[in-house]
Amino acid sequence: MPYPAVRMRRLRSNRLIRDLVAETSLSPSDLIAPLFVREGIEEPQGIPSLPGVVQHSLASLRAEAKRLVSLGVPAVVLFGVPAAKDPEGLGASDPTGIVQVALESLAGDLGDRLLRIADLCLDEYTDHGHCGLLDSQGEVDNDATLERYCTTAQVQARAGAHLVAPSGMMDGQVGAIRKALDDDGHTGVGVLAYAAKYASALYGPFRDAVDVEIAGGGDRRGYQQNPANRREALREVQLDIDEGADIVMVKPALSYLDVISEVRRRFDVPVAAYHVSGEYAMVKAAAERGWIDGEAVALEQTLAIKRAGADMILTYFAAELAEILGA
Ligand code: PBG
Repeated sequence: MPYPAVRMRRLRSNRLIRDLVAETSLSPSDLIAPLFVREGIEEPQGIPSLPGVVQHSLASLRAEAKRLVSLGVPAVVLFGVPAAKDPEGLGASDPTGIVQVALESLAGDLGDRLLRIADLCLDEYTDHGHCGLLDSQGEVDNDATLERYCTTAQVQARAGAHLVAPSGMMDGQVGAIRKALDDDGHTGVGVLAYAAKYASALYGPFRDAVDVEIAGGGDRRGYQQNPANRREALREVQLDIDEGADIVMVKPALSYLDVISEVRRRFDVPVAAYHVSGEYAMVKAAAERGWIDGEAVALEQTLAIKRAGADMILTYFAAELAEILGA
């Protein structure tokens, strides 16, 4: 029997050498925790389709933010659930709206020890559940929506957001928001752009988390991307960079690793990936049945997202992973 000329197994023979030659690593500092905060509740409320995730009260949000800091997680992205919704989603830009109140509290509690990212969209606030304003035909009106995004960005910046994260996929949103922030004196507030965001079936549990139902059984295919397209994602990313995005995001993550990898290869800006609610829920559901080891799968999936090229990952596993990684 000839000896194998190359023995790949030498570098796999114990944990230390495996770690030494690891090409990718995952650390709590790569993670961003999405958090939901609901107006007018005293106690946090569970979300059945997202086990372990809650709609926070202001008090429980503040406690969770402190816990994340102690775990070494550097950032949170906030989503608001308002007490009342209306056609224009006014709560999004109300200075006393829930996300603004939350931003102010976290700024007071933690200052620069935790980055405050505000998701910037209208769907949590509109009664029809779309990400923008509707015209008389019931279609999402791009340019009228941009005006609402601009006021929302300014209000979020005044409340203490370090970054705003427009997620509505309106054309020109990054440029409009950048200008609105600058005009209001917030040149230091950055834009984390949901640049390549697909019309995915994996957002289902998120819509439970923010109590959103799209009117008339509608969907978001008129503004979010077709999962069939990769080149289109690169155009979206290019446009957002040209308009002033500081960080670009691909969403969802696991079904779009090819997009993450191509964005990483082509552009020299930081790349974020959003491991979305459906991706989390599938792992939790299978783990609950004992069919998979949930922790191990969560680690493997998030490592894969980094390997594909993401610099940072928004994930509902943030606290859990930080606990495992820090242990
Ligand atoms: C829109 C928004 C959505 C998510 C983040 N921002 C939902 C959507 O576009 O329908 C989904 C995140 C997730 O599924 O975890 N404001």
